[in-house]
Amino acid sequence: MSDFVRKPADSTGTHCTPEQYEDMYRRSVEEPDAFWLEQAERLDWYEKPNKAGEWSYDPVDIKWFADGSLNLCYNCVDRHLPEHADTTALIFEPDDPATPSYSLTYAQLHTEVLRMANALKKLGVKKGDRVTLYMPMVVEGLTAMLACARLGAIHSVVFGGFSPEALAGRIEACESRFVITADEGLRGTKTIPLKANVDAALEEPDHTLDVQGVLVIRHTGGAITMHEGRDHWFDDLASEEDCPCEPMNAEDPLFILYTSGSTGKPKGVLHTTGGYAVWAASTFHYTFDYQPGEVFWCSADIGWVTGHSYVTYGPLLNAGTSVVFEGVPNYPDFGRFWEVIAKHKVNIFYTAPTAIRALMREHDEWVLKHDRSSLRLLGSVGEPINPEAWRWYHEVVGEGRCPIVDTWWQTETGGHMITTLPHAHDMKPGSAGKPFFGVRLLLVDAEGQPLEGATSGNLCITHSWPGQARTVYGDHDRFIEAYFSTFPGKYFTGDGCRRDEDDYYWITGRVDDVINVSGHRMGTAEVESALVLHPKVAEAAVVGYPHDVKGQGIYCYVTLMEGEEDNDELAAELRQWVRKEIGPIATPDHLHFTDGLPKTRSGKIMRRILRKIAENDFGSLGDTSTLADPSLVERLIEGRQNR
Ligand code: PRX
Repeated sequence: MSDFVRKPADSTGTHCTPEQYEDMYRRSVEEPDAFWLEQAERLDWYEKPNKAGEWSYDPVDIKWFADGSLNLCYNCVDRHLPEHADTTALIFEPDDPATPSYSLTYAQLHTEVLRMANALKKLGVKKGDRVTLYMPMVVEGLTAMLACARLGAIHSVVFGGFSPEALAGRIEACESRFVITADEGLRGTKTIPLKANVDAALEEPDHTLDVQGVLVIRHTGGAITMHEGRDHWFDDLASEEDCPCEPMNAEDPLFILYTSGSTGKPKGVLHTTGGYAVWAASTFHYTFDYQPGEVFWCSADIGWVTGHSYVTYGPLLNAGTSVVFEGVPNYPDFGRFWEVIAKHKVNIFYTAPTAIRALMREHDEWVLKHDRSSLRLLGSVGEPINPEAWRWYHEVVGEGRCPIVDTWWQTETGGHMITTLPHAHDMKPGSAGKPFFGVRLLLVDAEGQPLEGATSGNLCITHSWPGQARTVYGDHDRFIEAYFSTFPGKYFTGDGCRRDEDDYYWITGRVDDVINVSGHRMGTAEVESALVLHPKVAEAAVVGYPHDVKGQGIYCYVTLMEGEEDNDELAAELRQWVRKEIGPIATPDHLHFTDGLPKTRSGKIMRRILRKIAENDFGSLGDTSTLADPSLVERLIEGRQNR
């Protein structure tokens, strides 16, 4: 087929070849237990599991390797010491290139993890406790995750860009009694007041919090307030004595990560230890075809699942070298990514389409002036990549010689689910490709009827896989409702998808009320709830619309309380309000004041119409006859903001 971009010619050696992929995929679905018990051999277990998957989607109960026990920190760090003490585990590249970078060997990482684990112990952290991390992208973010895993505590990382209000909600939801943070974080020219945000979160009047200990890492040295008895400097509590790894059952929780859904507050997606580890280790190994000694760089923040699985756990489980980058793609200039690649001789680079699109707009010279000969493989994650951006990434960044893995997955899947493998598959720009081992995809129509052949539909997964989330923390009913109720008996991803004549999968985007802004997942309901908290706002409806760089932008329709006047000042105030409630990533792109929202006679907001108007595509609004006030549509079109 002419739309294929060919995989590299050498399909031999340790790579997964096309034939191996076919054989392994077949075996992974025909004999999943044998297949996954074999993959589990990638890890060191205290008790080896005898069983792999024990799961049901009706009722929803998911377990993997349940009679096995292990410790994930031991698997990421301690077990590598005999052979890899001197192998580089982490390379830290700071925000400002003028600040020196540094690296840690596995022996040094081990020491740092001990220091962190002992500090957490002194803070009072014990097995099963929830520990909230609100950190910059620094090595201590990773050692804090690993130290939690070492002690058997459950980490909940909250992205440092979230507001104090959002942080407080996430601390409250999992009843976390401990917070790990830093004085400040750096992102480009901005300083993020992390500790001050924690202080503000802990004083939020609308939340019932019981935080007993805050551990503070000194990063920028900026001035902060320490609260006697509650706040402790990491350096004061850190010590290097041995701190044994807690043996964990494979089904003991490893982490909670809050993510947006189509309704209500963010959900605390829960991952457990054994299955997640097998998934992170095996996907990292196969998708990136990681070879010993290679330098791997995933540009995601540890506040997102990509940072969990492919900055921390995947690389370290494979005794790999992972780059930890604090900065942003455009500081101090548009060549920053490529400068880091040249500086650390990065072999595998994994980033999001939004960054690629933003950099593609700038002159190619920013890329070309940095040496990229070390690059072997490129990866994309987080949102659909448009073929134009794919080709620029492939041809300009990768000099036409580096395959691209476009990896589709979700917070809930733990790791990669659809991707081409570098030596097994030809690529198609814009298509994520083929299912990973053990992944059984099904496209269904709106009624849940399976669709065969080349077609489009709702993307479901029919069989559990080891990396699957087990529940929503503290609310199993919500887990069932969110993922297993639309199409009973199947896991529904929330994504629309096309399968082509070559059985390649093309993700077309969310079909629910979740939008994807710069690769960050956002519930339109969350932005609406933030807006209606403002005293002047009566009602709000939020939709996504296509955005050249961000993938999707945030378009808000707002009606005001009786007697309130809409003007530019109020628009600016509402933007600021949403930033304060959620964080800068939720800042509305367009605010459209209206005297009403289009509703059916039964009062249901017709989002389809709002989406079309926001997309500036109002020629095909469809049937508007059921609207309570049909003339409203004309006024909405007239007042549209995205022209
Ligand atoms: O819509 C899909 C999109 O991101 C959603 C998952 O978001 P999140 O849980 O934040 O995880 C992002 C990082 C894995 C999916 O439902 N998505 C993710 N990767 C891709 C993608 N859409 C298209 N292509 C991808 N490669």
